[in-house]
Amino acid sequence: MEYNITLLKGDGIGPEIVESAAAVLEKTGEKFGHKFNFTNCLIGGCAIDETGIPLPPETVETCLASDSVLLGAVGGPKWDDQPGDNRPEKALLGIRSAMGLYTNLRPAKLYPALRSASPLKDSIVGRGFDIMIVRELTGGIYFGDRGYRQGKFGREAFDTEAYSVTEIERIGKIAFDTAMKRSMKVCSVDKANVLESSRLWRSTMHRLAENYPQVEYRDMFVDNAAMQLVRDPGQFDVIVTSNMFGDILSDEASQITGSIGMLASASLGEGSRGLYEPIHGSAPDIAGTGKANPIAAVLSGAMMLRLSFGLGDEAESIEQAVDKVLNDGFRTADIMSENCKALNCMEMTERILDNI
Ligand code: IPM
Ligand code: MG
Repeated sequence: MEYNITLLKGDGIGPEIVESAAAVLEKTGEKFGHKFNFTNCLIGGCAIDETGIPLPPETVETCLASDSVLLGAVGGPKWDDQPGDNRPEKALLGIRSAMGLYTNLRPAKLYPALRSASPLKDSIVGRGFDIMIVRELTGGIYFGDRGYRQGKFGREAFDTEAYSVTEIERIGKIAFDTAMKRSMKVCSVDKANVLESSRLWRSTMHRLAENYPQVEYRDMFVDNAAMQLVRDPGQFDVIVTSNMFGDILSDEASQITGSIGMLASASLGEGSRGLYEPIHGSAPDIAGTGKANPIAAVLSGAMMLRLSFGLGDEAESIEQAVDKVLNDGFRTADIMSENCKALNCMEMTERILDNI
């Protein structure tokens, strides 16, 4: 088969890691008889430099016309003084919304080979964990009414959290369907003891849960969830939550794996087209030094093959290549540990390619 993939390399280490991922996709395509056509588009700070805005219309059009999109990372200190709605990060929200990507899947699992990299004690992570955070991505406070007004103490700024039953149901269904293919557990995270939008979230999830009697369902307040993630991460399978709570909890979940440079993510909507990106940021401090870890981007490519193109064997061959390289003791700087061999971004990519 032939697939058209848009590459949004972005800023900082984005270009290096996306090139690694594209090379791995190409090699996988050769092995299995697929052709991947890559088109590059601007997003984030580099787009501001070239065109004055972080998300040029041409980028949106190309993404919408392609079979899937692979993104590196956006942002950096160079663009910190841009006004709020012209910041590189705004392009991320814009592309998610333009592509209708309301589901964000953020897996956080502990690689056995990297267990010592986790900041949590062995007594806590000893039995490992494999969590899938299902984050709502195009609603909530990220997209609600906002502005400035006169308040009790003078001028104030406000942002609004709002969720409709439709939005909650569609993300809830994804969470339950995802759990059906995993360990059959869903934990819905909200703040229903305070927020009205969370009470609607919770009652809607309860209604949905009735359609999935096989799935073990529970609710958890977000403050407790933040605590439970470091107390006993092994208790979780699928966590489903709102845009902002998901943003926060997914950073926490990735950190306890000890290897944020390893974690991929998928953003999906109604069709098969998705946007795949590493969870880590643009790391401008190490851009161009060769220190970047390409694995999260490479694994994002694997997620694309599986979730957008239905190419499960191909995805597995990439994941197995990564496992092999780690088990052979090769590491980039961010996941380095004693008795392992340090590789730069390009060398790590070569090792992975050798194992495809
Ligand atoms: C993420 C990021 C983005 C978000 C920012 C950069 C807009 O933190 O993808 O988690 O908050 O969604
Ligand atoms: Mg985030």
